[in-house]
Parts: sequence; structure tokens; C-alpha cells
Amino acid sequence: MTTLQRAEIAEHAMSQELDRVVVKSVIYTSGERDPRQPVPRPPDQGKRYMMGQDPRLPRMPARPTLIDYFKYRFGPANHLLQSARLAQKNGASEKVILACLLHDIAIAGFIRGDHGYWAAQMLEPYVDEEVSWAIRYHQALRFYADESVGYAYPELYSKLFGADYQPDEYIERDYNMARNHKWYMTSRLICVNDLYAFDPDVQVELEEFTDIVGRQFKQPKEGLGWDASPSAHMWRTIMCPTKYL
Ligand SMILES: [Fe+2]
Ligand SMILES: [Fe+2]
Repeated sequence: MTTLQRAEIAEHAMSQELDRVVVKSVIYTSGERDPRQPVPRPPDQGKRYMMGQDPRLPRMPARPTLIDYFKYRFGPANHLLQSARLAQKNGASEKVILACLLHDIAIAGFIRGDHGYWAAQMLEPYVDEEVSWAIRYHQALRFYADESVGYAYPELYSKLFGADYQPDEYIERDYNMARNHKWYMTSRLICVNDLYAFDPDVQVELEEFTDIVGRQFKQPKEGLGWDASPSAHMWRTIMCPTKYL
């Protein structure tokens, strides 16, 4: 086979790949459209359906690491990086620095609502229990001041949700539970270092935390998502968000 023929075959394979039919999951459009209605789908004209990595997205390595998800699937991570840097500057433990680095990854790459709970579940098989616990409850603790560590209710929340906003009952319940838990302060430290007013001039590189991630995150050898952990499928969904089945 000549080089030209090989190139043509590769190009053909690529165009077939680009030509796959994408049907969006209900959750991606629920609200914009009535989820009770049938999901609209483009005419397929015999085309194949998306069953792998969406070619519109940067291709992930065969055995992705947590860092690869940051690079290829998460939105800008400034908030996470600056929070982790602040925790480091404040002399926090590696566990707390890691928790700060990862506390909002559900917002960065998965689902916003209940982001603390989602992130904790994604991370549970791979980090110390205290880290995922702290991440789960930072979402609730964020709504409640703790003067002992100089944490006030975020002004931003009043702006975003209104001065009269009351957290849901389950948030209050989980706050009350977390407040009396042995790991309360770990979770609270995420809030203390959780920067809303981050400095656009401060550039923190992900590489600064490679060592901490290496020590604190149990990277599966098969690649994050291809392993058999209870949350591997969540990582696969981030890798292939338009997979048909
Ligand atoms: Fe958060
Ligand atoms: Fe945050």
C-alpha cells in the first residue's frame, strides 16, 4: 500500500468518525425542552451512531490520568488551582490541598447541581476517605458561617441567590451532621480556602500539584474510567459525553 493510499484510508475513517449521529442525553437538554417529549434526533440516513470518543473533542490518551481529565475535559481550572495554592500557602496538609484542588471538579467537568456530592462519589475509590468526605460536605458548609476560623457567609451567594435565600432542608441536615463530625475541619478548610474573588493575574500551573496528586490520588493502571471502580462509569461519561449507549 502506498503512503497516499494509507492516508486516504485514514482520512476516510476520520470522516466516518466525524459523521456519527449524536443524540444528546435527556439531562443535557432537560429544561430547554420538555423531558417528557421524545428526544429529537437528526435523520441518520444509515449513518452510524456515536459509540466512543466524540471527534469534536480533544482525544484522550488510552490510559487517562486525573491530570488528563483536567487538560482535555475540564473547563478552566483557575478557581481550583488558586484554592489549592492558597491552602498550600496557609500551611494546610496534603490531604487538604488535594481536597481544595478537586473540590469543584464536578462543576469543572460534570454536573453543577449537588456538585459536592457528585465530586465525592467520583473521587471516593481513588482518594483517602477524609478527602472525599470533605468534598461532599463543603457544598453544605459553604452556606454556614464559622467565625472560629473567620469564615463568613459568602457575599457572592447573596448576590447570586438573593439575600433571603434559604438552603434546602437536606443541605441544612447535612450541615448539622457534618458540623459534629470528626472531619468537620477538613471540609471547613475547603471553604476557608475556596476563593471566589480570584486574581486573574495569578497564573497557577497544574504541574505545581503533580507530586501531591501522585502521592494522594490512586491512579488506576488501566486508566481512569477503564478500571472497575464503583465510579469508573462517571469518568467514562466525562470522556465520552455523547456516547449513544
Ligand atoms: Fe463548591
Ligand atoms: Fe469552590
